[in-house]
Amino acid sequence: DDSIDVDIAALRPGQQLVVTWRGWPVFIQKRTPEMLASLKTADIVQRLRDPDSKILQQPKDATNWHRSVVPEIGVLIGICTHLGCVPSYATPSPNDKSGKYSCPCHGSQFDVAGRVYKDAPAPYNLPVPPVTMLSATHVRIG
Ligand code: FES
Repeated sequence: DDSIDVDIAALRPGQQLVVTWRGWPVFIQKRTPEMLASLKTADIVQRLRDPDSKILQQPKDATNWHRSVVPEIGVLIGICTHLGCVPSYATPSPNDKSGKYSCPCHGSQFDVAGRVYKDAPAPYNLPVPPVTMLSATHVRIG
C-alpha cells in the first residue's frame, strides 16, 4: 500500500498544495465557488480538447463535471501529458477568478479540473489519482 494521507486543514480557498505520491507531484486544490462555476462556462468548455475526459478517464467516483470526489477539493497528478513537465498553477485573481495551469515547457494550458485546451501540445487531461476523503481536512491519495 503506497497511499499517503494529507492534512489539508491549512489550505485556503483558491490555494493548492503539492505533495509527492509514487514519485509524482500531486496537486491538491481548495476550489472557490467561482473556480467551480468556471468549469461549466461555455467560454472554457468550448476551448477544451476532451471536455468529458473520454481519452483518459479518472476514477469512477471522480467521473463528473468537476473531476473530483467532492467539488471543493480537486486532486490532479501534476505531470503534463505532453512530455512530463510540471505545470504551474495560477491562483485565481480579481481579473481571472477561474484559476488555471500552464506548462512551462511548451505552453499547454489546463483548467482547474486539469482539462487541457485544444491548442495545446498536451494530448489529454491531467490524470486524477484515486482519492478518499477521510474527513473535511484529511485526504488519502492512492
Ligand atoms: Fe507540457 Fe510540453 S511538456 S507542453
